[in-house]
Amino acid sequence: MVVHLIVNSSVINGAATFQNNVLNIHKLGALLPLVEWTFIFIPILFHMIFGFVIIAGGMPNPHNYPYAANYRYTLQRATGMIAAVFIAIHVFHMHGWIHNESWLHYVVEPLGGAQFRAYNATSTAGLALQNVVMVVIYAIGITACVYHLANGIWTMGITWGVWTSPQAQRRASYVCTAFGLLMMLISATALFGIRASVDTPAKLQDVRNEEDRIVELKIATGDIQANPHKEAAPLDESTEDGATEDDAAEEKSPAEPAATNAAGN
Ligand code: HEM
Repeated sequence: MVVHLIVNSSVINGAATFQNNVLNIHKLGALLPLVEWTFIFIPILFHMIFGFVIIAGGMPNPHNYPYAANYRYTLQRATGMIAAVFIAIHVFHMHGWIHNESWLHYVVEPLGGAQFRAYNATSTAGLALQNVVMVVIYAIGITACVYHLANGIWTMGITWGVWTSPQAQRRASYVCTAFGLLMMLISATALFGIRASVDTPAKLQDVRNEEDRIVELKIATGDIQANPHKEAAPLDESTEDGATEDDAAEEKSPAEPAATNAAGN
């Protein structure tokens, strides 16, 4: 999650930087699904299932004992559930969960999912985030994920006996709070940075030109393979010269029904 948010926030340096970072990941080619399943999907699914088992056996009691630690205990469980729902929505929104033509065509696309195309990273992610409702869902989801991680590290240190004395626990809680605030800053940079990169038709066209230039170059040098499923459809003529922002936002479903698969291919 930390790596993911840092990569996303690299858009602050321009769409070209974000595109290059995404392509560095997609350079893994056929290995990418293996890496994603090993390091992302299986660990998250394991954590979700195990988390729900823990929640089922939990006994929140902040009403009886209104201590900060008790609120944190309850919040840790609440944010875990919000994070699980958010990650499911988010992977559907960007990837559509699984790569199956009928699923993508008849279910995912009508519902506004599978919007991300790795070879047009900023423009497709940015268009997917023009919708204010999605921005609110992302803001809530990211906040829950960051709290869950920062507070989770703190409680992990207690469970594993890394910080045992009250003083050490206090110091650790300062560090975890600072880490959480830093992650929130990075997340906000990612969310609003990606969104703002394509919030006018002129910016959208510039970003798309830049992305296409980088991808062509990397294909020519053999860094990445040509793959139409990872490309967005060409922009509508009207967005190139003087169309409204609304027109650009409507350009949100980037073509290719047979888009990506759940593992990002
Ligand atoms: C600013 C907020 C975020 C933005 C803009 C964002 C953007 C994206 C994008 C563009 C993708 C597709 C990446 C690709 O295929 O190369 C993606 C995938 C994913 N994101 Fe996020 N993300 C955000 C926050 C989060 C958070 C907080 C989590 C929580 C763990 C998360 C978990 C995931 C997962 C599990 C995937 C699927 C990974 C894959 O297909 O390999 N994201 N995200």
